[in-house]
Amino acid sequence: MCGEMRLDLANHFRSLSLGYFNQNSSGYLLSTLTKDLSNFELVITHALPSIVKTVVMATLVLIGTFFINWKLALAECVVLAVAFPILAWDNRLVERHGAKKRQLNAKMISIVLEYIKGMKVFKSHNMTSTHFSRMSDTLDAIRKTNVKMSVPTSMYAIIANFLLPLVLLAGSYLFLGGTITPDRLIAFMLMSLALSALLISFEHSYNLLKDLKLAAVNLEKAYDTKPLPYQEENVTLTHFDVAFDHVDFSYNHQADVLHDISFHAKEGSTTALIGPSGSGKSTVASLIARFWDVTQGCIRIGGRDVRELNPDGLLHYISEVFQENTLLADTIYNNIKAGRDSATEEEVIAAAKAAHCHEFIKKLPEGYHTHLSEGGNTLSGGEKQRIAIARAILKDAPILLLDESTASLDADNEAKINQALDRLMKGKTVFVIAHRLNTIQNAGQIILLNQGRIEEMGTHAELLKKHGHYFEMVQEQEKAKA
Ligand SMILES: Nc1ncnc2c1ncn2[C@@H]1O[C@H](COP(=O)(O)OP(=O)(O)O)[C@@H](O)[C@H]1O
Ligand SMILES: [Mg+2]
Repeated sequence: MCGEMRLDLANHFRSLSLGYFNQNSSGYLLSTLTKDLSNFELVITHALPSIVKTVVMATLVLIGTFFINWKLALAECVVLAVAFPILAWDNRLVERHGAKKRQLNAKMISIVLEYIKGMKVFKSHNMTSTHFSRMSDTLDAIRKTNVKMSVPTSMYAIIANFLLPLVLLAGSYLFLGGTITPDRLIAFMLMSLALSALLISFEHSYNLLKDLKLAAVNLEKAYDTKPLPYQEENVTLTHFDVAFDHVDFSYNHQADVLHDISFHAKEGSTTALIGPSGSGKSTVASLIARFWDVTQGCIRIGGRDVRELNPDGLLHYISEVFQENTLLADTIYNNIKAGRDSATEEEVIAAAKAAHCHEFIKKLPEGYHTHLSEGGNTLSGGEKQRIAIARAILKDAPILLLDESTASLDADNEAKINQALDRLMKGKTVFVIAHRLNTIQNAGQIILLNQGRIEEMGTHAELLKKHGHYFEMVQEQEKAKA
């Protein structure tokens, strides 16, 4: 059941807009997907049986003790009457501070993750100590909250442990006074021993239940964020022109990143997006793939508003090669095959050859079956890029988004890859984001973005004639090359 819940939640996360992942730290997501769901597991397998046992047995034992000696049994009831309100107090503390405790724990996980992932940066910039202070600050805050929150349960545990000595004391008093016989006293002590053990073990289950309560609130919150809405479940597109109609966009309702973007990319044409870094080129590409939804205006593919379409279905028609390509910790073969699940081995190898991966893959000790490390970090940037290109070639989708996809290639490889890309781009609606302007001169249209606005738009020849910003950029690059 927990496995299913985990898969379901993972799927839910995937269906959300990328904005969700901007707003929630990796530590939060990780602890939701792992710890929160483990809580259910623990409660169902351990806490529930133990709580049922405790309640049934404790009631029976208590009733039994009344039959033996009602005075002693009353003493026991006094202990219980003190212990249980403490748990109620604890409950209130959980309500007040529980969310904060979880936040701190998530922050801790985030810091640890950041530390491990950024090890290279920390080492090379000697940032170890400053980073540790952030970690120790968080740990300190966790310690404070934990101390505050564990007072009631500690008190409960002490009282539960006191039950036996207390009853022993009272029992001895009664025995010396001659009001209880030794056999009854022994029977009573044995029962009290059982009761005390039950009360002590109840604390453990109670703590699990407490965690479950917080986890459930958290999971509910995770499910509260609704997936990107759509009207059409099974998307069938027949045309693949892309139109932006007065699109405004901002990440997380902050300042606008794109303003009033309108253009039309004909089916089968190539559109180049250029502009200074931070001008919004990658954002335009992400909007086409509906990783985010526009704030104003609309984006149409084949005449259909992308917001009507199921994002999963839409992505069947789109291949992307990004600036940074994440590979999965799987074999190279499976990484390429991820482009199209139904591909045969010949097709995978043909795609690898077309993307100029085949040579370097063959040289690896296990060839296509070499296992990559997490994120594909055992390969160079250029190699990762070429595998991502092979994946896109295999997918063969009618819309292609290339975000600086030749950025991490050396000149020799770039020429080869450009050949492969040319073949891939044929007949497709392509968006290329490139730094080197010489690579995009043949594009059907060139869109120059600046601070989220379209500054110039047209073919290479048209833009040159304008003697505007594009003209300057081309001249600058020519100069640099010379
Ligand atoms: N995930 C994000 N969350 C918030 N702001 C972002 C995000 N990605 C990019 N931005 C901001 O949006 C602007 C445009 O970024 P981007 O489209 O990546 O530019 P380009 O690809 O042209 O370099 C930048 O100012 C950047 O800081
Ligand atoms: Mg970019």
